[in-house]
Amino acid sequence: MAVRTRTRWPALPVLPDAATDAVVASGLLPELAHAFGGPFHFLLPDAFTANLRALQGTLEAAGVDGFIYYAKKANKAAVFVEQAAAHGAGLDIASVAELREALGHGIRGEHLVVTGPAKNPALLRLAVTHSALIAVDALDELDAVIAIASAGHIRPARVLLRVLPPLQPHSRFGMTDGELTTALERCRQAGEALRTEGFSFHLSGYALQPRADLAARLVELCLKARVMGLEAGRISIGGGLPVSYTDADSWRAFLETQRPAHYHAGKSFDSGDFYPYHSPESGAHALAALLRARPQHAHGKTLAKILTNAGVELLLEPGRALLDRAGATVFTVQGTKDRDGHQLLTVNGTSLSLSEQWFGSEYLPDPLLIPLVPLNPATAPGVFPASVGAATCLESDMLTWRKIAFPQRPRPGDLLLYPNTAGYQMDSNESPFHDLPLPPKVVVDRIDRPRPRWRLDRHFT
Ligand SMILES: Cc1ncc(COP(=O)(O)O)c(C=O)c1O
Repeated sequence: MAVRTRTRWPALPVLPDAATDAVVASGLLPELAHAFGGPFHFLLPDAFTANLRALQGTLEAAGVDGFIYYAKKANKAAVFVEQAAAHGAGLDIASVAELREALGHGIRGEHLVVTGPAKNPALLRLAVTHSALIAVDALDELDAVIAIASAGHIRPARVLLRVLPPLQPHSRFGMTDGELTTALERCRQAGEALRTEGFSFHLSGYALQPRADLAARLVELCLKARVMGLEAGRISIGGGLPVSYTDADSWRAFLETQRPAHYHAGKSFDSGDFYPYHSPESGAHALAALLRARPQHAHGKTLAKILTNAGVELLLEPGRALLDRAGATVFTVQGTKDRDGHQLLTVNGTSLSLSEQWFGSEYLPDPLLIPLVPLNPATAPGVFPASVGAATCLESDMLTWRKIAFPQRPRPGDLLLYPNTAGYQMDSNESPFHDLPLPPKVVVDRIDRPRPRWRLDRHFT
């Protein structure tokens, strides 16, 4: 029965997306759900390419020399690597397996940047062999790179020195000012074995001004390093370009409305732990705003001006921003029960395929109900609150604790589409728990046709 209260149910509608709507309207999803017999992800590579072009266009419009490395950790699909290779981007990787994937799907070694702390020696050796850029995180790692590069490789090692952000002094990444001074001296002494190309950072959070401030500081470090005879012509500002999943009013209303009564079992989340599902500037607009920002102590100059005056190239490692609207995740409702005025749905997969729960948070964009039997158009939609649990024996394995206000009563066999999941949600935590198969990834393109075209992300041999 529909709930007849005047409660305002918190909702988080996603921004309209014509490609996802077209896939839903095509009728493809129930067929794929039937074919795979379990949850699956669909990928929209054209969205990835559009996001990449927008970032590249923003650098160009600002007259800033720059290069984009796609942060591969955000999604394991091959198709995004192939798109990056085809459209002039590189890859940010942090393991031998990611390096292999990158090369195998068309990225050239010199278009890789290797990030992460205390990198595996095999990864460092491969990085030097393939002329990848290495973001060195510590002094002992620098020594290891110099040792590899000095031991007879034909190419010098290419490095950036990763800086500990002054505003995040407890970060476990990057080097202190003292360590950087020592590192620069060791780079100088390494001579031909090393190309010290510049400096890097990655900041937690999504604020733009601290990124502009630290980027300007890295340009100063480049100028200092050049005085020592080092190349120092590039800085990497990592990832963290924000993505807007919803509009400003919906996000504000959501935060004002939601309280534990809106969640199964009265569960509460600290709203500060939610991803900021709306940002005033996102994606390429955020990059434009960053280039326009005026860093502290820079005499009113914009970051773009500081970079061009110093002849420093700007490197970026976006993950989530490149994957905005580039895919969605589909589960089938397997069972339902009624609990204290709401339904508890169980879907045919787990929250390991919707990662946010594993960071003590919840993926908030409203899932779309695709019913087996659509609502009769003559019937007014109701309000049918339901939370969504996984097909596992873990009490805490919930995809959505929030009681979503569905317009009709969900039933077994209906599909639930979680929108915009390509950035981090799909597979960063996946595991075949209970021996459930990992959800396949389906690449969908030719959305312009009445019947979009699909294939598996990888052709298994
Ligand atoms: C070094 C580095 N670069 C890039 C990224 C990608 O960040 P985002 O997906 O927020 O753009 C991360 C994320 O953790 C990172 O640690």
